[in-house]
Amino acid sequence: MMYENLLVEMRDKVAVVTINRPDKLNALNNKTMSEIKAFFASAADDDSICAVVFTGAGEKAFVAGADIGEINALSPTEAVRFARLGQETFTSIERLGKPCIAAVNGFALGGGCELAMSFHLRVASENAKFGQPEVKLGIIPGYGGTQRLPRLVGKGRALELLLSGGMIDAEEAYRIGLVNKVYPLGELVDNAVGLANKCLANGPLALSYAICAVNQGMESPIDEALANEAHLFGLTVATDDSKEGTSAFLEKRKAEFKGK
Ligand code: COA
Repeated sequence: MMYENLLVEMRDKVAVVTINRPDKLNALNNKTMSEIKAFFASAADDDSICAVVFTGAGEKAFVAGADIGEINALSPTEAVRFARLGQETFTSIERLGKPCIAAVNGFALGGGCELAMSFHLRVASENAKFGQPEVKLGIIPGYGGTQRLPRLVGKGRALELLLSGGMIDAEEAYRIGLVNKVYPLGELVDNAVGLANKCLANGPLALSYAICAVNQGMESPIDEALANEAHLFGLTVATDDSKEGTSAFLEKRKAEFKGK
């Protein structure tokens, strides 16, 4: 598929996607959001894509937010549709049954922070900055920021970012659990791809069920979540990969997973 604002490069089984509007600090205009949605819809059905790494073009920004020019022109009903498109897109990332890693290479503000939070893992460059500055514009986040941020860092820290509109650096984001690792800028994407490949050495169906168990469990009472985990565990035991993984361990050899 051809995109105007996304560059897609396959590194073996990992799709490395770069949002390419560096002159606007990769701000998410409608076109870019629609392309991200289309990319993840196609990635879900594309067996050649086993993991996704997302980053921003240039050395300054991952994504500096939703496009403020577009927000300025929205009517209230258009704003609801605008928020729903972003929410649906980001939920499709969170629910993709393949490891998705945000490689945050600079500003991740507003919709950029919300985009990063919808990925399963986040790695950041040392110059990365995170924030939800919407209140400075007289609005609130509309792409899931008020929901995913407290789930990731806790209510108190989330409200500090949401109410102050301030930014935190990569070190602080690591300290509060918003990012998994921090790397020098020039090594960021290679390390994100390395992390994706580390995940891909494992059973692909197990990866997808693990993502599903965590996603569903986060939104359910503990008894329901545990019952769901047990059912998904049962499903994984029914796979050829489970027989291969356990046999390989017992036979002291490397497992050859087939995703079946
Ligand atoms: N929407 C639309 N355009 C944006 C943008 C956004 N969220 N963020 C940056 N840009 C544009 C700027 O308007 C500027 O375009 P121009 O050169 O045509 O004037 C270009 O990107 C470069 O940004 P600039 O502000 O000049 O860079 P800077 O280094 O001085 O500041 C930021 C960087 C990130 C601090 C600043 O751009 C900023 O505060 N952006 C908005 C962040 C925000 O509020 N995001 C939440 C949106 S809901």
